[in-house]
Amino acid sequence: MRIAHISDTHITGGEAYKSYAYDLTVSEINRLNFDLVVHTGDVTNSGLREEYERAEYELKKIKKPLVVIPGNHDVRNVGYELFEEFIGPLNGVYEFKDGVLIWVDSTIPDLSDGRIGRHKFRWLKKVLEEYSERPIKIVASHHHLVPLPNTGRERNVLFNAGDVLDLLLRHDVTLYLCGHKHVPNVYRVEDLIVDNAGCTSCRKTRRGDVNSYNIVEIEKDRIGVTVRRLVGEEETKSHRPVKSKLFIPRGERLIRIVHVADTRVSDRVYFRRKVLENAIRLINEKLKPDVVVHSGNMVDVGIERNFERASEFWEKIGAPKLAVPGSSDMTCLGHELFPEYFGEPEVTPLRDFTFIPVLTPQYEYEVGSVGRFGQRKLAGDLESAEGTRVVFMHHNVVPIPGSREKGFLEDAGDVLKILTQHGAEIVLTGHGGNAFAVRVENTVVINAGSLSWELHRNTFGNSFNLIDVYPGMIVAFEVQATWGSRRLLGIWPLRPSSGAP
Ligand SMILES: [Fe+2]
Ligand SMILES: [Fe+2]
Repeated sequence: MRIAHISDTHITGGEAYKSYAYDLTVSEINRLNFDLVVHTGDVTNSGLREEYERAEYELKKIKKPLVVIPGNHDVRNVGYELFEEFIGPLNGVYEFKDGVLIWVDSTIPDLSDGRIGRHKFRWLKKVLEEYSERPIKIVASHHHLVPLPNTGRERNVLFNAGDVLDLLLRHDVTLYLCGHKHVPNVYRVEDLIVDNAGCTSCRKTRRGDVNSYNIVEIEKDRIGVTVRRLVGEEETKSHRPVKSKLFIPRGERLIRIVHVADTRVSDRVYFRRKVLENAIRLINEKLKPDVVVHSGNMVDVGIERNFERASEFWEKIGAPKLAVPGSSDMTCLGHELFPEYFGEPEVTPLRDFTFIPVLTPQYEYEVGSVGRFGQRKLAGDLESAEGTRVVFMHHNVVPIPGSREKGFLEDAGDVLKILTQHGAEIVLTGHGGNAFAVRVENTVVINAGSLSWELHRNTFGNSFNLIDVYPGMIVAFEVQATWGSRRLLGIWPLRPSSGAP
């Protein structure tokens, strides 16, 4: 199966559209061997009738089976009605030998943001269940699922990207196709390939890049994605899905990490003191970790009284402790008090591991930021660290199920790229009030739920994470804070530290 993945043609009579780029790409696609062409949206620039008329004419030049998905630009000016008139259904299913492609309209009228809303989400789930037997399952939508590098400020990821990602992983989806950001990128998230196309014929490329499309090759035990630029080198990324196998710990456990977040010590009714006390007892008496990492939101509001109480709890933990601030810690006097009570976060070697803190919260603001300066520091810290590297911070870099993803970390795309490119082995985050873990490329990203705050988003209840690392293997559990019962978040291979990219 070979797919030509085009996107963001932005067809218009004006300057945005580069018709020669479109024609060159289409003639190449017609000439080469493809089973299917998928256009992941922004076919037109403003959703106007004259643009749709031209788009209908231009799309007819493609002489292969074609699936077209609406983008945010197509639905401007109530263009979604014209899309159906000139192009076809907004959502649908395309069957092929061994597989299925489900395309989903993720647009919201007059917004650039994306969403797969409640009813459509259920429809997608139902279709995935119906086709569960097919070995190849492809989902295609306009908006991106995982933050992208080199796109400036991270925005317009699907509002419910965490839920969608979780759904696709649970249904063993092979491939997610999307566009929108005008930057080509390929990520492997567990065994799901997330394929972002660049822009095929829009003037708006980024970092001085040129127009491109992606070539997807799906074979029995390999998926390859090639970014094919109008000019310049091709880049191919190949992935062989890992057949599920039994993980057996070899040798002694290297480290045990207890990972907590969102304790939110305060005198508000939402703070569950007893749950926190119980968890501390469990950690000290039963779990006996080598280190406890707190991924932020130690207090609910950054005032002295809260920090004082929080540090009393913190002192009760017997193991070595590391903490970074979260958004709620950085309110009121938090920027002064957090380092006073919990110390300035520093790179800390421990056994054969190096723990690298990243400061993400901004003063009095929920959205996080590392910043370009901070990103360079992170890259440097990763390069110079010895042994297995554990990066810890507050804001999540992959979307979390059950929460609305709106500006979680404004440079999440660039930060995620640094983490994966430098091969950080483990990343610990603690935003969004829900436990979740996935491997992106070779980096295991683990988010902690809320330890003792009633306003969480986790049906399991208040919890913390337990991460055991063995030679060649990482295993993570979520531990229910009241009962101590565990559920598995994941098991992943641990590659020997690779250092610089
Ligand atoms: Fe676009
Ligand atoms: Fe778009």
